[in-house]
Amino acid sequence: MWASSPFLLRNARKGRRYWKKAIYTYMVIQTNQRAVTLPARAKTLSALLQGRRSVRQFQDRAVDRKLIEEILEAARWAPSPHGRQPWRFAVLTRPELKTLLADRMGETWQRNLEMDGQESEIVKIRLEKSRQRILKAPVIIIPCLYLEELDRYPDERRQADETAMAIQSTGAAIQNMLLMAYDLGLDAGWMCAPLFCPEVVVDALELDTHLIPQAMITVGYAAADPKRRDRLPLSSLIARFD
Ligand SMILES: Cc1cc2nc3c(=O)[nH]c(=O)nc-3n(C[C@H](O)[C@H](O)[C@H](O)COP(=O)(O)O)c2cc1C
Repeated sequence: MWASSPFLLRNARKGRRYWKKAIYTYMVIQTNQRAVTLPARAKTLSALLQGRRSVRQFQDRAVDRKLIEEILEAARWAPSPHGRQPWRFAVLTRPELKTLLADRMGETWQRNLEMDGQESEIVKIRLEKSRQRILKAPVIIIPCLYLEELDRYPDERRQADETAMAIQSTGAAIQNMLLMAYDLGLDAGWMCAPLFCPEVVVDALELDTHLIPQAMITVGYAAADPKRRDRLPLSSLIARFD
C-alpha cells in the first residue's frame, strides 16, 4: 500500500524529515477517507445501535427526498430468505394521503378498541392520538411483505415457515432503515397498526394486492429527546451459552 502511493514514489529521494511529513500527510488522507464511511451521528457502531431510539413526535420540517432514498437503500441490503427480498415499501409524504390512511385505519381501530370493551371516551382519545401521530409525521414508510417470489412447498408447515422467514427478514429491513435514519440525523418510530388491517391499507393507497402491509415507520426530525426504555441485563437474555 505504502510503496504503491504515487505521492511517496515521486518523492523517494527526499530526506528523513520530508519522509516523516509525507507519511503523516498520507495517514491523514487515509483517515479522512475512512471517516466518510463511519456513522455520522455516532462514532462507533455500538454507539449507533444504543443511540437509536423510538421517536413519536417530530418537528414540522420536511425530509429531503435524497435522505428518504438513503433510508430505503439501507433496507435493500438486509438479509432475506434465498436473497429474494420479500419486501416492498410505500412512502407517504403528502398530507392528503396521510389523512386518507388515518381515516381508513381509524375505522378498524375504533372497532377493535370497542371490541376490547374500552370506554367510548378513551377510544376517542386514543384514536385522535394515533391520527395525529400519522398526520404529523413528515414521512411514513410502510414496509409490506411480498411473498410471490418465495419458494412453494406442497405442505402447509414449510409454507408457513417460508412466510415466517419473510417476516423475520422484513424486521431486518426495518432495523436497517431505523439505524440509517438515525445515522442521517433523523429519527423514526414504529407503528404496528397496518398489521391489523393490511387490506384496508392496500385499498386506501391503491397498492398491488399482493402486498401485505406490516407496519408504519414514521420518519422526521425529533421534536424532543424521548425517554428510553431500560434493557434487561444481557445475562438474563442468554438462554444458554454452550
Ligand atoms: C414489532 C414492533 C411493533 C411496534 N409497535 C409500536 C407501536 O404500535 N407503537 C409505538 O409507539 N411503538 C411501537 N414499537 C416501538 C417499541 O415500543 C420500542 O421499540 C420499544 O419501546 C423500545 O424503545 P426504543 O425503540 O426507543 O429502544 C414497536 C416495535 C416493534 C419491534
